Amino acid sequence: MTPLVAFSAQLIEWQRTHGRHGLPWQHTRDPYRVWLSEIMLQQTQVTTVLAYYERFLQRFPDVAALAAASQDEVLALWSGMGYYSRARNLHRCAQVVVAQHGGQFPASSEQLQTLPGIGRSTAAAVAAFCFGERVAILDGNVKRVLTRVLGFQGDLAEAAQERALWGHATALLPDQGIEPYTQGLMDLGAMLCTARAPQCPQCPVRGVCIAAATGTQASFPVKTRKLKRSKREHVWLWLCWRDQMWLVQRPDHGVWAGLWSLPEFETATIFEQCCAAWPGYAETLTSFTHVLTHLDWTLHPVRWRLPSDIDDAKARAIVAAWPTGHWFTHDEALAAGLPAPLRKLLLS
Ligand code: ADE
Repeated sequence: MTPLVAFSAQLIEWQRTHGRHGLPWQHTRDPYRVWLSEIMLQQTQVTTVLAYYERFLQRFPDVAALAAASQDEVLALWSGMGYYSRARNLHRCAQVVVAQHGGQFPASSEQLQTLPGIGRSTAAAVAAFCFGERVAILDGNVKRVLTRVLGFQGDLAEAAQERALWGHATALLPDQGIEPYTQGLMDLGAMLCTARAPQCPQCPVRGVCIAAATGTQASFPVKTRKLKRSKREHVWLWLCWRDQMWLVQRPDHGVWAGLWSLPEFETATIFEQCCAAWPGYAETLTSFTHVLTHLDWTLHPVRWRLPSDIDDAKARAIVAAWPTGHWFTHDEALAAGLPAPLRKLLLS
């Protein structure tokens, strides 16, 4: 066997005997279910996805049910998984599948890629699992596996190098068995060929792996451009009146797009000026830093309790500054699409 054939043959054999077989999105060729799992798994661990996946399918058993839902409801069910643009694209994608494809996902990776939120690798995973299409995936885990096996030193920050790696991924595809091969790549990346502690002695392809042979596992993949991180700080106003709180819907772009959240102030001084004439009292809660992909966001929550005997007109005047908001009871808030740290704050 050439090394390339050995790679796919050994991976497929290992997937059959040692890979994962009991995940709820396996043993189905329903593109809706496979697509949903692939989107959820893009930035979220399998253990977290399991609970969300089942709940999501109960509420939206097919693409038509998802397309017919409100964005608010989709975000509410997604709430806590983060990366909410995934949820908004998921919803838009369902609407496009219903409106433009008669409720059937297109059956090729090329067409799947034209849908909102479906990139080349996700399209390939759905097409391989559902339609048996012989096409390469290349997500973050698979990049790590393949650059190690091939000793691929190109800098993946460069588009030409990324293209070259796609070419290698395609050249490695087996003639038969695309499903266990694709699942095997995912399983190997998640179970053995991990970023920090690769378990090479148990690896089915160690015999053909250049990084294992040269002890250079830690230097793959090569990617020079580092994310520039920024910092942001806000006062977060938890305004309470008669067992209700005022939540505002965030704009449909940027961090926590479309979710319900607390009004924000850029500085403590601006906050103090705003609330100087309000009745009631403030309670300073514990500050925390929420770490996002590009951003460390420090929030300083302040709970302000308005006296319950102020009248509706007075309360309305106070919240008029946040016209995209409304009053929520505690239970209504918990049922809405909330950023994970706000949910935690409300439950603390
Ligand atoms: N990560 C991305 N896709 C996956 C899948 N189908 N199974 C397990 N982990 C995954």
